[in-house]
Amino acid sequence: MNVPKTIAIIMDGNGRWAKAKGLPRTAGHKQGADTIRTVALHANKRGVKKLILYAFSTENWKRPEDEVRYLCKLPGLFFNRYIKELMENNIQVTFAGELERFPADTQKVIRKAVSMTEENTGLELCIAINYGSRRELVLGIRQYAQQVANHQRANDLDEDQLADYLMIPEEIDLLIRTSGELRISNFLLWQIAYAELIFTSVAWPDFDEEQLDRCIEEFNHRDRRFGGIQS
Ligand code: IPE
Ligand code: IPE
Ligand code: MG
Repeated sequence: MNVPKTIAIIMDGNGRWAKAKGLPRTAGHKQGADTIRTVALHANKRGVKKLILYAFSTENWKRPEDEVRYLCKLPGLFFNRYIKELMENNIQVTFAGELERFPADTQKVIRKAVSMTEENTGLELCIAINYGSRRELVLGIRQYAQQVANHQRANDLDEDQLADYLMIPEEIDLLIRTSGELRISNFLLWQIAYAELIFTSVAWPDFDEEQLDRCIEEFNHRDRRFGGIQS
């Protein structure tokens, strides 16, 4: 079995999952956080190198205040509960996105998880939080333009070098979106150029080890040609 090195997941459907059970949307987010644990442990076991999870987009600030407040608290609840287990499993935590907009205690708990796990050599679990691909590109382009203006480098950027200006430099092998929507919603636009895409109707809180294995299996049936011809 060929395991994708980099998997990115748009964790969608928490709200609908809760609604279907007559629960508040926040109950879906809570359950969804537990799914993060399950899926991260399993991806680690399967030998995935980097798992990038879309937890909060730059557009999610549009949601009702109560829901945003809960989503801001969630990383704290998650890491307080699971950091020990992540450590025991040699998982390294990183994040992508502009953390500054989150409450100070949320920022602190995330930064602590990152520093505690930085020597770990297993799966890299990257949480995309206040992340938007367009914003990522804009920030990277600004940084590059500044360096050119300062004569720190020539105006000779190539595709590989552009990745150095992004929050997430890796190419994505497999992109999964749960809960049936067929769109990308501003996630990793540059990095998914040749990703295999899987859209599943399963809601994120119901996603589990078996679902991840099915996606990896489906990935194995894809013929990745990268613009070449079938081998
Ligand atoms: C994904 O679930 C979690 C976040 C975007 C934070 P949603 O909250 O988008 O759930 P649906 O799409 O409304 O069901
Ligand atoms: C994408 O889901 C963002 C995250 C999963 C964090 P949304 O539920 O916000 O996306 P849209 O609004 O349906 O495109
Ligand atoms: Mg959604």
